[in-house]
Amino acid sequence: MPIQFRSGECIPLEMHKVRMVQRLNLLPVEERLRASQEAGNNTFLLKNRDVFLDMLTDSGVNAMSQEQYAAMMNADDSYAGSETFYRLESAIREVFGDVHFLPAHQGRACENIISQTFVKPGQTVLMNYHFTTTRAHIVRNGGKVVEIVRKEGLQVKSDLPFKGDVDIPRLRSEIAEIGAENVAFLRIEAGTNLIGGQPVSVANMREAVQIAKDAGILTVFDASLLSDNLYFIKVREKEFAGKSLNEITLELGSLFDITYFSARKLGCVRGGGIITPREDLYNAMLPLVPLFEGFITYGGMSVREMEALAVGLRESMDMHVIEQTPMFVEALARELLAANIPVVTPVGGLGCHVDAMAFCEHVPPAQYRSGALAIAAYIAGGVRGMERGTLSEDREADGSDRIAEMELLRLAVPKRVFTLSQIKYVADRLTWLHENRNLIGGLRFTFEPKILRFFFGRLEPVSDWPRKLAEKFRKDFGDSL
Ligand code: F0G
Repeated sequence: MPIQFRSGECIPLEMHKVRMVQRLNLLPVEERLRASQEAGNNTFLLKNRDVFLDMLTDSGVNAMSQEQYAAMMNADDSYAGSETFYRLESAIREVFGDVHFLPAHQGRACENIISQTFVKPGQTVLMNYHFTTTRAHIVRNGGKVVEIVRKEGLQVKSDLPFKGDVDIPRLRSEIAEIGAENVAFLRIEAGTNLIGGQPVSVANMREAVQIAKDAGILTVFDASLLSDNLYFIKVREKEFAGKSLNEITLELGSLFDITYFSARKLGCVRGGGIITPREDLYNAMLPLVPLFEGFITYGGMSVREMEALAVGLRESMDMHVIEQTPMFVEALARELLAANIPVVTPVGGLGCHVDAMAFCEHVPPAQYRSGALAIAAYIAGGVRGMERGTLSEDREADGSDRIAEMELLRLAVPKRVFTLSQIKYVADRLTWLHENRNLIGGLRFTFEPKILRFFFGRLEPVSDWPRKLAEKFRKDFGDSL
């Protein structure tokens, strides 16, 4: 909650207390250098024991409430017809309205079911922006993706409050050009992940969905990052200032033909689900759930996680629960901007997104600027972020690198996990790194998988710059870790 100090400074005060803790390790910089080499300079391959602040993702690592843990004890372990399923279904209906619910083990499992059911070879899926697993499933089923986010969405700096909005004229022209019958569906992603956790406005969603409906095109909502998006609707979209989060969510649940989510993000557990107000669509997807996930009353989830999800979804309708991530992201961004470090603005949800294109301007684009910045940030502070740039793209068919539209280092802020002093520490180490950015050099692959190479790829520095960076750290910080 924003609270004003005597000085006038406003800080995002934590509205919870910590009752269970996990010990952290902050290794000396020489050990961090060794760990980065062992991990092939890829933050995905670092061992968590070598990481101080894990800002890789907010997926499956959010803090759970005591009510969620308590609910887990009530789980009804049965293969079919478990009471847990009906409790979760009624929580889903309370939050999203009068809908049918299909459980799945995580977000990409929902994407598998939706793509297999609704994407025919040669068809196009129109969307504000893709997520890695979303596009992979659509392409796997013979479809292709056309992105129609507003042009400001791809600019690091902008004043637009909802940079994830669909470009409405583009939506109309793409439908006219492709032909409605060749469009599998329109997909809108809340809290648009790969462009910096940028929100979509309800006004824009209403308009885009209406256009699709008029053309007879199915509409799909990816609500994985809904809680951050809800926060921004509440604070940035005037019409909703007086509405409750639940009222907004009920409107969204009835707006789209299909809504799906990763419960590793929404609801702070480990799972996923698909909902639809339409019985025909429910029946079309239903047979794939037992085939790929499990029986329709558990869908690959543990009943304990399902109980925690029911509570977590209801808690996501509480501003105190959902506001901490976007407010901490803003606090971090504010400190970085004050030190002239370029970050995506306006600040989004999910995490703080540092513009590696500008931070590492001196590194040639083909030497993976954001990958280099990610490993440099680990060496500088034991902070594990995620590369979201060219490394996260696979190569073109002709073998050339697909240069990403944005080169970002994502420092994810999982929900209610970190404290403000830890956020300040990240800002301090990033500021030091920025002052010493000329020491950061490029990377090249030593092992490069063909698909989703960012997960398992191994890289080496083009010179011995990581060692020089570590030596400079030791010189500047003396005995401090
Ligand atoms: N959609 C969005 C918008 C996501 O951010 C994710 C996952 C998925 C779908 C897939 O869900 O992981 O449960 O299968 N994003 C994670 C991240 C992996 O780190 O941003 P999943």
